Amino acid sequence: MRYEVDFLVVGSGIAGLSFALKVAPYGKVCILTKGDAAEGSTRYAQGGIAAVMYDSDSFDKHIHDTLVAGDGICDREVVEMTIREAPDRIRELVQYGVNFDREGGGERFDLHREGGHSEFRILHHKDNTGEEIERGLLEAARRHPNIEIKERQFAIDIITQHHLGQRVTKHTPGIECYGVYALDCDTNRIDTYLAKVTLLATGGMGNVYSTTTTPVISTGDGVAMVHRARGVLADLEFMQFHPTSLYNPAEKPAFLITEAMRGAGAVLKDRNGKEFMQKYDERLSLAPRDIVARAIDNEMKLSGKDYLYLDARGIGKKHLIEGFPTIYAKCLSIGIDITRDMIPIRPAAHYQCGGIKVDRNGESSIKHLYAAGECSCTGLHGGNRLASNSLLEAVVYAHNAAMSAIDTVKSVPFKSEVPDWNAEGMVLNEEMVLITQTKRELQEIMWNYVGIVRSDLRLQRAFDRLNLIFRETEDLYNRSVLTEPLSELRNLIACAYLIIKMARARRENVGLHYSLDLIVKKV
Ligand code: FAD
Ligand code: SIN
Repeated sequence: MRYEVDFLVVGSGIAGLSFALKVAPYGKVCILTKGDAAEGSTRYAQGGIAAVMYDSDSFDKHIHDTLVAGDGICDREVVEMTIREAPDRIRELVQYGVNFDREGGGERFDLHREGGHSEFRILHHKDNTGEEIERGLLEAARRHPNIEIKERQFAIDIITQHHLGQRVTKHTPGIECYGVYALDCDTNRIDTYLAKVTLLATGGMGNVYSTTTTPVISTGDGVAMVHRARGVLADLEFMQFHPTSLYNPAEKPAFLITEAMRGAGAVLKDRNGKEFMQKYDERLSLAPRDIVARAIDNEMKLSGKDYLYLDARGIGKKHLIEGFPTIYAKCLSIGIDITRDMIPIRPAAHYQCGGIKVDRNGESSIKHLYAAGECSCTGLHGGNRLASNSLLEAVVYAHNAAMSAIDTVKSVPFKSEVPDWNAEGMVLNEEMVLITQTKRELQEIMWNYVGIVRSDLRLQRAFDRLNLIFRETEDLYNRSVLTEPLSELRNLIACAYLIIKMARARRENVGLHYSLDLIVKKV
């Protein structure tokens, strides 16, 4: 089938939905999403969204905290712009119908604090903020007559001059996006979506690693598509590991224990119940994430244990049960009463700071292709994202991209000469085990060699192992009918390759990139 839409959005998380709602008055919007519309990292966000809402805080402080967490390599202008725009974007979320907790049920927002923040500035909805944001935005999008949401549609590749038979390299000037090819997961048909403007909002790539807090849909599809289309990517070596995922090895994805709990007074402890963060940073359990995750990793390696503890008992029973109901219920379901027991935790891959390089308008290096949310790289996070700045970045850049796209759409025609996907000569792939086993191997390689602490030798080893997996999978791809699992596996391999390549190129320890063979940037 062939479709023509003014605005094509790939992804129905906070970034895709926010963009769709803004452009909808100006044309036909189609949102493609590979699973159920509500599924994505957004709905799992716990802590909240950072913004300066009152005079007790200041933009300067939030800017400073972001720059410090980013370890000196954030784009300062982007940081300033994003943080100053935050209050307007928060007010819009509220207008769309998103509820944030208020103090004593009044007007003033109830604010939390998280690692790296010098003030209480995290707007939240109990400990399930993302679920509330996703609900509010999805309901608003479903009400809009110009927005069509198509579930179980898997975008495979963005369409460029390459599909018109031209040779496209990363040096080709003026690469253009004409839309995407997408697999209908119910019929296995590959459809052609032509669009005047396309937004990628495909989320993160946590599933490159064996332990991750991200849902199974986070397979780096947008980044891999732009890589294949020869667009510009950046900062992929900065994979953020959240310090405190619940240690429950059989569970995938790993359940998150929000940093807001440390903001409320919970402390990290070793297996003997002793605090250890004083050895690593004066901000103790509330140091930025890269520092805390490395400290935990080190303590785990020193003791040879698989997990450490978060002790939340000091927060008090009432506050724990009322303020963190999701975590309380989850832990209780596996026999841990957080009002009485310490919580077993370990780090997990959580957030990709890098991605599709975009400018201030959210536009990528490929014309008419925008990116927002976790798949993008704006320069806000630098070497390490400050907690709760990612939902913020998503709404700010969805807004900027929408403003620019509304302008662009007026002058861009559909590229009707684009051919349909050619699947001739393919045989059905019956060996699912090849895909699942290869994915597992890839995730273990990345966890063991390209994790929180790296070295030249580990990166080299990962690269060599990956090469073999890459060749085997490309061979499978060339012989098989395309399926979602195979496509995701190729995308994960591409992302893993890019992470390793960028990690090897980064010759200093900065932010989340830490190698035993490199010098520490700061004394
Ligand atoms: P997502 O919400 O992940 O949505 C991606 C969308 O793209 C999905 O709809 C998916 O189906 C679709 N998609 C992907 N690939 C394709 C494809 N090939 N074809 C079609 N559709 C596709 N950040 C904060 O700021 N504060 C927090 O408190 C916070 N807590 C978090 C807690 C957890 C457990 C996790 C995992 C992350 C948390 N984060 C938090 C990070 C934040 O939630 C994410 O970065 C953000 O929600 C990403 O939004 P997004 O719209 O970019 O992508
Ligand atoms: C958390 O709640 O700890 C996650 C916050 C974030 O990832 O920004």
